[in-house]
Amino acid sequence: MRSFLMVCALFAIVTSRVSAQGADGKALYDEFCKKCHGVIGKPPATMQKKFEKIATFNAEFMAKHSVDSVVKVLSKGKNEDMKSFKEKMKPDELTAVAKYVHELAAKAKP
Ligand code: HEC
Repeated sequence: MRSFLMVCALFAIVTSRVSAQGADGKALYDEFCKKCHGVIGKPPATMQKKFEKIATFNAEFMAKHSVDSVVKVLSKGKNEDMKSFKEKMKPDELTAVAKYVHELAAKAKP
């Protein structure tokens, strides 16, 4: 009986940690955004050539796009190139990715 309670307690700790941490913005970014927007938020040259208007995530970008506005772009999509990700991610995942984009922008060199 004691070991059963121990297992329950451990399980509770593990699951509460997962939900407290929430969705992993970096993992989602790497899966869905990196190929166009680049590892550190600077699109690779091939993508810059293909999409003239593709955003670089830097301080200037951050000043114009709040986390909320990025979530909005991700859920609604902007155009043919920057599509909606609503079907691919849950709302908390969209928020996690939007926050990660801001982290990248904060780290970017001016
Ligand atoms: C197929 C390539 C592609 C992928 C994949 C992609 N993007 Fe984009 N993204 C673009 C292009 C192109 C633009 C510029 C759109 C424009 O202004 O015409 C853009 C623009 C944006 C913008 C700026 C929107 C605005 O309001 O100007 C944000 C924020 C953004 N992307 C975030 C993301 C995130 C986060 C992901 C991953 C979930 C992602 N993108 C995946 C191509 C892509």
